[in-house]
Amino acid sequence: MTYRLEIVPEEFWPGVVATAWAERLRTRLRVCLPTGATPRPVYREVAALADFSATTVFVLDEFGLPAGDPARCDQMLGTDLLSRLSAPPELVDSLDPEKEDLVAECRRYSATVADGGLDLTLLGLGRNGHLGLNEPGSRVDSPTRVVELADETRRSLVRYGAREATDWGMTLGLREIMASEEIWLLVRGAHKTSVLRRTLGDPVGPHLPATYLREHPNVVIWADEAAAAEV
Ligand code: PGA
Repeated sequence: MTYRLEIVPEEFWPGVVATAWAERLRTRLRVCLPTGATPRPVYREVAALADFSATTVFVLDEFGLPAGDPARCDQMLGTDLLSRLSAPPELVDSLDPEKEDLVAECRRYSATVADGGLDLTLLGLGRNGHLGLNEPGSRVDSPTRVVELADETRRSLVRYGAREATDWGMTLGLREIMASEEIWLLVRGAHKTSVLRRTLGDPVGPHLPATYLREHPNVVIWADEAAAAEV
């Protein structure tokens, strides 16, 4: 077993994760960050604790939506984290779904991430086991690419306040994610109980991409007690 499972009571979960992360941010880091509901309370807390001015931030994924849509990942990261920081990160980069040549954009992003690598990648856990937008069916060596969204993921856009629907997105590949020096999987809430149990207990494979994390040498799973109820 190469992962470390940290189970934290709900009320302390954001603070515990934020404090551990702020400690890591004392050194110059290249981080990859998720968006969505899970990290939101961590971002609120870490903004008051940490100095990001020596940090390079890569946004994990992006939806095929126009710039400015509230459900865009760059927009959510801006609202949930970047707008709260007293000093901006050294650099923020993300996949741009409005580029004419999306294949070239994926190639650019992958090369930028690889040039220096990732020290720490934070991930949310999709109810269907996706990591970023690496939906079920994704192989462990899948590259940064344009993807079709799973039905469940399309539905989550409503929760994120999307002004329109979309059936596609772009994501950092599992290949790039698995190359990260360290990975933190953030799992919060009773609606994640069964997918967390399956992440730790199912056979490793593309049916549940999160299972691949068990093959990474340096993973911390930060779960609240509700999410960890069955592990
Ligand atoms: P959530 O999304 O944090 O909004 O639950 C997680 C994910 O789909 O990766």
